[in-house]
Amino acid sequence: MSEYTDIVIEHFENPRNVGDMTDPDGIGVFGDPGCGDFLKVFIRVENNIITDIKYQIKGCPASIACASIMTELAIGKDLDEAMMIEDEDIVNALGGLPEHKLHCSNLGASGLKEAIINHVYAYVKH
Ligand code: FES
Repeated sequence: MSEYTDIVIEHFENPRNVGDMTDPDGIGVFGDPGCGDFLKVFIRVENNIITDIKYQIKGCPASIACASIMTELAIGKDLDEAMMIEDEDIVNALGGLPEHKLHCSNLGASGLKEAIINHVYAYVKH
C-alpha cells in the first residue's frame, strides 16, 4: 500500500497549473535550483485577486502534489487570504502526508508567499 493518499497520487500524476507564464504579476522562488528541491511560482493578479498561477518545480512526488493543490487553494483568493495559506492547509487539503514528507509542503506555501511579496513590492524578477 502506498504511503500517500489517493489525493496526493492523483495530483502528482496530474499536476494542476504546471508551466510558465508570460508577463506575470509576481514571481516567487523558494529553494535552490542548483543543488536541491525548488519551486518557482508565477501569479496573475487582477483587482487584488489571484486569477491564475503557474509553477515550475524540481522535487519529490509529495512536493509536486503540494504545489499542485496550492494553486487550487490560492486561485480565486485575494492577496491577504492567499498569504495566509500555510503548510498545514496544503497537507490537510491532500488528506495528509507521511511524517517524513511534511516538510515538502514548505515549497508550495513559501513559493506562493514569495510571489505575493514580489507582486506587492512591484518588483518582478525575470
Ligand atoms: Fe524534498 Fe520532498 S521536497 S523530499
